[in-house]
Amino acid sequence: MAHTSTYIEDIFEGKFSENDKVAVNGWVYNNRSSGKVKFLLMRDGTATMQCILFKGTTPEPALEAFTKLTQETSITAKGYLTKSPKAPGGWELQVEELDIVGTCEDYPITPKEHGPAFLLDHRHLWIRSKRQHAILRIRSEVVASIRSFFDDKGFVGFDAPIFTSNPCEGSTDLFEINYFDEETKAYLSQTGQLYGEAGAMAFGKIYTFGPTFRAEKSKTRRHLTEFWMVEPEVAFMDLKGNMQLAEDMIRYVVMRVLKNKKRELEALERDTSKLESVAKPFAKLHYKEAAEILEKESKDGFKSGGDFGGGDETILASRFDTPLFVTNFPGAIKAFYMKEDPEDPSLTLSCDLLAPEGYGEIIGGAQREESITRLLEKIAEHKLNPDDFQWYLDLRRFGSVPHSGFGLGIERFTAWICGTQHIRECIPFPRMLNRLSP
Ligand code: 4AD
Ligand code: MG
Repeated sequence: MAHTSTYIEDIFEGKFSENDKVAVNGWVYNNRSSGKVKFLLMRDGTATMQCILFKGTTPEPALEAFTKLTQETSITAKGYLTKSPKAPGGWELQVEELDIVGTCEDYPITPKEHGPAFLLDHRHLWIRSKRQHAILRIRSEVVASIRSFFDDKGFVGFDAPIFTSNPCEGSTDLFEINYFDEETKAYLSQTGQLYGEAGAMAFGKIYTFGPTFRAEKSKTRRHLTEFWMVEPEVAFMDLKGNMQLAEDMIRYVVMRVLKNKKRELEALERDTSKLESVAKPFAKLHYKEAAEILEKESKDGFKSGGDFGGGDETILASRFDTPLFVTNFPGAIKAFYMKEDPEDPSLTLSCDLLAPEGYGEIIGGAQREESITRLLEKIAEHKLNPDDFQWYLDLRRFGSVPHSGFGLGIERFTAWICGTQHIRECIPFPRMLNRLSP
């Protein structure tokens, strides 16, 4: 009987029975001999499985090939399956044939400890390691879940451009490039939002999803220069509706990851009880209440009216056992497009969502200013050039409506779900102040 070609994940998920003959393509994770028994831990990208060879019973060519294996040698293993409660995934492959596809000498990442700079220099290989592999599979599930959440609600996927002719989110952290000639400047997009607003007026509810760029010279564990953001934008939705949408989205995604990525969360030794807190309604704190707390407790010299530092966010978030919305930030520290708070014109109808466990701001959002007069004043106050925003102002000229949206940073969200120290591990190839390769 021929061997059925398969992925290890399909074996672990019960698509085969004992004694079924399978062929698996992959790489050597680890191999060792113990007397007559030879253990081969093999990874194929979907999972890692134990393969067994016995001196005396396994055919000689396979035993011979086993002696040549080194970490990351690529192989095809054929054999029959046996159940083995102690082995990873509960299954073992009893090897009958073993073929070497590509040899591997002196693989640089060994089971010993390596420093972060060495690992980042070898990011193209580091992603094969257990932790990195688990994190990036979770990221993929996060992205897929976000898309299904919005698609199932009838949102239109609406991709914003990456080259833009005007700054969208303040002008301090813009990447500027020459667009074909010296005179024509283009910027790498900091956000898809302004284009998303045009989309909302055309389709009612949309989401943009793409890479965004910030020339932030910060070396914190929460900053990348290139990161991915999902930005829903909805016509006729107010701040309250915006927060409800964000809360529903976070709950849906976290629950789906908990259900579908158990093996990965286990590999990361993640305490998932913290993630289960998303089932409860999210806590809310008005900026003024947050400021009162921080004036007493901040270690970074917070003053009312100012923005929060990373430490401040941790102080606020740790008072609650769910993610925390902070609302109504001062206009002076927020972007020009945010709608003024009718109860206090110095504040805005804005919301940030702070993740628990010190992961800080994962969402920024707001109700948008729909009045063209107020928007023009705001553009002037923020020292922006109104000529750059004529198309955006058209959205207020031609049937303006109240509307709201938010942006979720994929890497920060994934870092919280995975419990990783630094968000650089949550994107395949991180871009940071001092890192542009591999
Ligand atoms: O709060 P931000 O700057 O909001 C916006 O860009 C709005 N236009 C979103 C909107 O309303 N449509 O960024 C949103 C999120 C942050 O909460 C954070 O998760 C992430 O983007 N983010 C970063 N992630 C990694 N590295 C950086 N340098 C980031 N800057 C923002
Ligand atoms: Mg923000």
